[in-house]
Amino acid sequence: MTLKKQPSILITGANRGIGKALARCCAQKRWVTHATYRSQNNERLDKVLYYEMDVTHEEQVKQTIEAIRQRSGHLDVLVNNAGVFPEPTDCPFIDLETAWWQEALQTNVLGTFQVIRAALPLLKASQRPRIVNMSSGASSLTQRSGRRYAYGASKAALNHMTLGLADEVKQEGICVVALSPGWVKTDMGGNQAELSAKDVAEELEKTIHQLKLSHSGQFLNRFGQEGVYHW
Ligand SMILES: NC(=O)c1ccc[n+]([C@@H]2O[C@H](COP(=O)([O-])OP(=O)(O)OC[C@H]3O[C@@H](n4cnc5c(N)ncnc54)[C@H](OP(=O)(O)O)[C@@H]3O)[C@@H](O)[C@H]2O)c1
Repeated sequence: MTLKKQPSILITGANRGIGKALARCCAQKRWVTHATYRSQNNERLDKVLYYEMDVTHEEQVKQTIEAIRQRSGHLDVLVNNAGVFPEPTDCPFIDLETAWWQEALQTNVLGTFQVIRAALPLLKASQRPRIVNMSSGASSLTQRSGRRYAYGASKAALNHMTLGLADEVKQEGICVVALSPGWVKTDMGGNQAELSAKDVAEELEKTIHQLKLSHSGQFLNRFGQEGVYHW
């Protein structure tokens, strides 16, 4: 079965947290929702099409994109949500472990790169292609708070990739943005966070729906506003 008429979205890391809430929200609205999980799928949501995919596993990434191509023929939106925060918050430099850097860079940067590279042909087949890279205020080079060396550096690299790609593919009509969801109650954000994943997902869905090419190259908040987060 092909689902060529409906808008489609691929959300990586949708097993829990923001990715799962966004997949639920999109499936309830107008989207053909493709969602990925790593190895263990917590709960299968209604109307969500699932794929097992570790973003660091190149072959799985290619297989997922090929499966989506066969099902939908195109992809309107790619949300690079899968991410890790391997180090303890406020960890001093001297105590950082090499493995934390490797994990952050491997997943948040290289993994995202692999997914985008594989998905670009499918996005180019869309009438209104959009790529949303889930960034963070911790990426900022100019507004730093707290120590998040590996995570922050990985998200800064993701932002750099966002800006470069936005510039490169703008002529082809592809919108590429970095977006920070805010501080969200998830395994990563912790219990003290101010926002619920459900509320954030609803705002994100609206923002994604409204994204235009003129937004490309911007660093947005969940409401689609520029200027709240700084490069
Ligand atoms: N929560 C916040 O306050 C906050 C703030 C700013 C930015 N963000 C960003 O928002 C995104 C989602 O965060 P979250 O709070 O929802 O995090 P989370 O609850 O920790 O969930 C992260 C998701 O990413 C998946 N993932 C991790 N490594 C992966 C890999 N190698 N391949 C595929 N999937 C992988 C996890 O899969 P498993 O379930 O298999 O582990 C999980 O589903 C992240 O990019 C994060 O940096 C979050």
